[in-house]
Amino acid sequence: MRSAWSHTAGIALSLLVCACGERGGAGGAQSLPVAASAPPGSIAVGPTPGAGAPPRAPRNPLASTAAVLQDGRRLYVWFNCAGCHGGHGGGGMGPSLRDERWIYGNGDAQIFDSIAAGRGDGMPAWGTTLPEQEIWKLVAYIQSLRTPDEPQPPR
Ligand code: HEC
Repeated sequence: MRSAWSHTAGIALSLLVCACGERGGAGGAQSLPVAASAPPGSIAVGPTPGAGAPPRAPRNPLASTAAVLQDGRRLYVWFNCAGCHGGHGGGGMGPSLRDERWIYGNGDAQIFDSIAAGRGDGMPAWGTTLPEQEIWKLVAYIQSLRTPDEPQPPR
């Protein structure tokens, strides 16, 4: 019994067990299993990986009107998405946003998540910089690339 306690609860507790054992007090021995049942090492602490993703609508709540797409185009330039993804999304240091290949998908929510939460291989998170509404404008703009609705298409 003594060795089992000292095995699970470590040196400090095992010293305590030794002291009680020497005294032979039944009361002391009864109180110990309570402490030994929850050693500090078994309590989960710290943030849970993957938790805290921003809540968002599954579909873009904004209609892709000309005004929304123009705003998206403006945000794309203002926030220098163009610096990594090319002036018209053709790609650069970051992947093309106008070809048909998507790493994380081109659904509304997938593009939203790429922008809001960032992506592991070099895509910054914008969710703390841009309100949801602006991110949805960027989503609409990106989805308009290579369509007749695209504002300011490349010449
Ligand atoms: C510092 C460079 C950089 C900037 C600035 C940047 N991106 Fe990215 N972006 C990346 C990289 C690199 C990836 C690929 C990440 C990966 O593969 O994990 C990416 C991925 C993406 C994706 C997912 C693409 C796919 O194929 O699924 C989208 C959408 C996107 N970025 C949009 C934007 C928008 C909109 C902005 C501006 C608000 C922006 N990015 C600004 C570097 C950047």
